[in-house]
Amino acid sequence: MCGIIGAIAQRDVEPILIEGLRRLEYRGYDSAGLVVLNPDAGLQRERAVGKVEALAQRLAGDGLRGTLGIAHTRWATHGSPTEYNAHPHMSRDHIAVVHNGIIENYAEIRGELKAKGYTFTSDTDTEVIAHQIMDYCLQGLDLLESVQRAVTHFTGAYALGVIARDQPDRLIAVRQGSPLIIGVGIGEHFIASDIQAMLPVTQRFIYLENGDLAELRRDQVRLFNAELQPVERPLTESSLTAGAADRGRYRHFMLKEIHEQPRAVAETLEGRLSGDGVLEGILGPDSEALLKRVKSLQILACGTSYHAGMVAGYWIEGLLGLPCRVEVASEFRYRRHAVLPDCLLLTISQSGETADSLAALRQAREDDYLGALAICNVPESSLVRESDMVLMTHAGPEIGVASTKAFTTQLVALFLLVLALGRHHGLDAARIRHFVEQLRTLPAVMEKVLHLDAPIERLAMSLVEKQHALFLGRGCHYPIALEGALKLKEISYIHAEAYPAGELKHGPLALVDADMPVVVVAPNNALLEKLKSNLEEVRARGGHLLVFTDDVEALGHDGAIQSLAVPPVDDWLSPIIHTIPLQLLAYHTAVLKGTDVDQPRNLAKSVTVE
Ligand code: AGP
Repeated sequence: MCGIIGAIAQRDVEPILIEGLRRLEYRGYDSAGLVVLNPDAGLQRERAVGKVEALAQRLAGDGLRGTLGIAHTRWATHGSPTEYNAHPHMSRDHIAVVHNGIIENYAEIRGELKAKGYTFTSDTDTEVIAHQIMDYCLQGLDLLESVQRAVTHFTGAYALGVIARDQPDRLIAVRQGSPLIIGVGIGEHFIASDIQAMLPVTQRFIYLENGDLAELRRDQVRLFNAELQPVERPLTESSLTAGAADRGRYRHFMLKEIHEQPRAVAETLEGRLSGDGVLEGILGPDSEALLKRVKSLQILACGTSYHAGMVAGYWIEGLLGLPCRVEVASEFRYRRHAVLPDCLLLTISQSGETADSLAALRQAREDDYLGALAICNVPESSLVRESDMVLMTHAGPEIGVASTKAFTTQLVALFLLVLALGRHHGLDAARIRHFVEQLRTLPAVMEKVLHLDAPIERLAMSLVEKQHALFLGRGCHYPIALEGALKLKEISYIHAEAYPAGELKHGPLALVDADMPVVVVAPNNALLEKLKSNLEEVRARGGHLLVFTDDVEALGHDGAIQSLAVPPVDDWLSPIIHTIPLQLLAYHTAVLKGTDVDQPRNLAKSVTVE
């Protein structure tokens, strides 16, 4: 999704902007650009389609000189990914704007501004912002006031960075819906969509709230609400360092993040378990009383986080007998729904900035839920700030677009929630103790699974030439099949679909032939015999089976099936373990195909627009 970085300093800002853009690359984009205000030459713009490197190369040599600038990575929404659509957008060489979000009513505003004589040079919704601000400047309003008045015209979501040719000492920012953070330095200040972009220059941040405007000068940051009344927002210090987003010895961030899972899971468990149970109050000081009252749950999320929610649905109904609905946020937000009795609302998100999840949360808050709990990986995110209770995953920054460690840590956090609820909803102490013991073994078991990297790479060789793949699972392993298929399609561009294995003969079996690899998640549990019949159905049609199991013997391996054994754990927790080989399978297939693993085409890390 689009990324913004801006700087006002006492040194040339171009290197800060380019490094910031590189650190925003993981969000996904198709073009990049920047504007620097040069005291003699005015607003100097450079833009390029493709990677930030292409932009950096254009600037090689003298570069742009100036101590105030804004920059942007664009993920096309309105208008194709071309240089003329890339940001920053300008009005009459006087105003320059970078924008993350979507102006829904831009067509109407564009018409009005054209009638006033403004010329449009792009197909974007953003260009109306530059001209609308310019229009107020021409009416004699100050730059800050012009921005404040301009945004009253817009419906939709926006985070904006704005500079003006005649204002060398001010950088204006405003946010509504899309995230924007101020980086506080000494004699220099910054704006960005994400703290990652600013970590090389500061670790002190102010998170703007919806409707906030900011005026950055070299020696001062002033914040205002939508009515231009001064407001104060807390300054937070991040413990993250610029190096936290390095690939280290790994070829890709995704591979690094897959290998970080044992540590990430250990950190998610850290401080939450007692000797034989889950500590009280892991969701916050008053949470136990609320957990007692819960009679049902509604889970909302998108993509991989939705798959984590689906697994939790099986856990909550299967272990606690509490009704649990799980729905993708983009569907939930646009339909009338009945609230279950005494229902806890649970949102799950890695970024905490996913537009659909946030909108669903905001809409659900108008209904009669007991409270809103967020499971999230970014402490300062909008989702965390807008929820009543939080259970943080401690995965650390996830840079690869394909979510890996965020997913397994979400599952661990969700299982902690199940145990915390279980205390009040019929899970006996011995069972809780057993699960706690099992949770503690997970990091070591995950390490063992990671040692299967080489055989999984060999399995990937049989996928790489294929056009399609089917993934099968049953029970709480069905969402793991969905997640495996999502990983494969995201990064290798092989079309992959997942089905509950019992559904095979109700349609997808028609697709099975020698060219259709069928990947199966097959732990040795009560459903294994049923699953074996499904495997036979595939085998009889000449389908190529790749089976991940924790018991090769029980599977009845006879050489006709390519299988790989993962270490056994309690069946309720085995979705967490069975996820890892599917991540590695997708990773190696993508590497063999030569795709862009960390930044797959058309995708964004954090989907901050609808
Ligand atoms: C995962 O591999 C995806 N890139 C994507 O489905 C992601 O999980 C989804 O966009 C939700 O993101 P969130 O967890 O940050 O809300």
